[in-house]
Amino acid sequence: MPTVPVRQQAAKVPLYRSVADQVEGLIEDGTLGPGSRVPSLRRLSRQMSVSVTTVMEAYRVLEDRGILEARPQSGHYVRLGPRCAPPEPDRTKTCEQAAALDTAELIEHTLEQVSQPGLAGPFGAAVPSPEFLPIRRLNTLLGRAVRRDPIASQSYDSIAGREELRQEVARRALDAGCSISPDEIVVTTGALEAISLGLRAVTKPGDTVAIETPTYHGFLQVLEGLHLNALEIATCPREGICIPCLEKAVDQGKVDACLVVASFGNPLGHSMPEEQRIELAEMLARAKVPLIEDDTYGELPFSDRRPRAIKSYDSEDRVLLLSSFSKTLAPGYRIGWIAPGRHRKDVLRMKLSSTLATATPTQMAMAEYLACGGVDRHLRKLRRTFKDLVRKMIRAIGEYFPEGTRVTRPAGGYVVWIELPEAVDSMRLYREALAERISLIPGPVFSASQRYRNCVRVSCAVPWSPGIEAAIRRVGELAAEQVGRR
Ligand SMILES: Cc1ncc(COP(=O)(O)O)c(C=O)c1O
Repeated sequence: MPTVPVRQQAAKVPLYRSVADQVEGLIEDGTLGPGSRVPSLRRLSRQMSVSVTTVMEAYRVLEDRGILEARPQSGHYVRLGPRCAPPEPDRTKTCEQAAALDTAELIEHTLEQVSQPGLAGPFGAAVPSPEFLPIRRLNTLLGRAVRRDPIASQSYDSIAGREELRQEVARRALDAGCSISPDEIVVTTGALEAISLGLRAVTKPGDTVAIETPTYHGFLQVLEGLHLNALEIATCPREGICIPCLEKAVDQGKVDACLVVASFGNPLGHSMPEEQRIELAEMLARAKVPLIEDDTYGELPFSDRRPRAIKSYDSEDRVLLLSSFSKTLAPGYRIGWIAPGRHRKDVLRMKLSSTLATATPTQMAMAEYLACGGVDRHLRKLRRTFKDLVRKMIRAIGEYFPEGTRVTRPAGGYVVWIELPEAVDSMRLYREALAERISLIPGPVFSASQRYRNCVRVSCAVPWSPGIEAAIRRVGELAAEQVGRR
């Protein structure tokens, strides 16, 4: 291996982790092949100009990640077999016709089942395990806030939400390249309410909304509830919605609004490259089609910098940007927000008839937490944790799932999308896994036309353990049994 000075990552990443990540990179790009012996501790310490102890720590991390194995008297070896890195799924296909939705029952039933407590493999609900979230700190701040200002909870808050929270949201939006004033922000009850308000503000029943396919099932539920049609547009697992495909539908006059996730979409984990974000903003502005941009996972990149929101390239104020703190801080606090641009008045009117105001105490606690300054440290840790868990999951899928399986390589967030061999019926796999107390979400739940019968989404936001590995292995075995029966 050539001499490689260690690249120190963000200031807070310990040196041994930087070394581990660099060695892992060499394995991923094939410089160190499966089964090969990696440099000895002394050799790598010389090559990277770090101490032997640092390399020892780095190799221990790689053993934990399941990438290296130590062989007595012999050294460390790359553990990955050739099948441990399954290929990625191909781009999906556009549905030529918009469809009225009829997925509510399937989605409701599935979500109810996968949210049971005490599962052996809780891969269904896309909610981070509580140990990853600062819930205790938030609860302390909640108690303190209501004691300090007991009057605040005795009446409704303003429709737009608390000023101090909107200021914090506006400050954080700068990281996404967006200069939004607190007055332009409306606090909502989670991102889901923001999606609903945004859609109600820019559409009327019977309109058609272009969405990615597969897409977050919550979008389908909201569209159905508002009597809107969905037009599924081809989506690339790495780069998100196919802009030429969307443009074609827009040019044909088929699209009244567009609803996308540019950063770490659910379920594909895609992240749209910057040039495409610009292209999308410009194309929709030219066509005067409003864009609702869901940035719920935007603060969870695996790299050091979060991507800019499409909203930051919106010169016409047509993009409605929304997000929430459900995936990063506290899903139960139900705090989300929307920056509706030129549609602010309509959104406020809708909010009035939706929930009137978001609950006051949780807004106060969230504002205080964000103002205290610990959030960026928390997020750095969370991103590292999710990156590690997603890697472990992909590796386990490679090891335990049948030949022909494909899996996405998310650039952030914590869900992966698995495309199984054609012979596998994901609805059946879902039922069989659930019978063994393992949850996952079957593919049809993510599609207006209930496609993706051989696909499933798994959430990786649970601490890795032998039990978790056994559970995902069992899913692989159940899938392989279906292939064998054919
Ligand atoms: C893309 C996306 N948007 C919105 C939501 C809902 O967020 P909230 O819990 O804040 O309503 C989710 C939850 O899974 C999601 O994946």
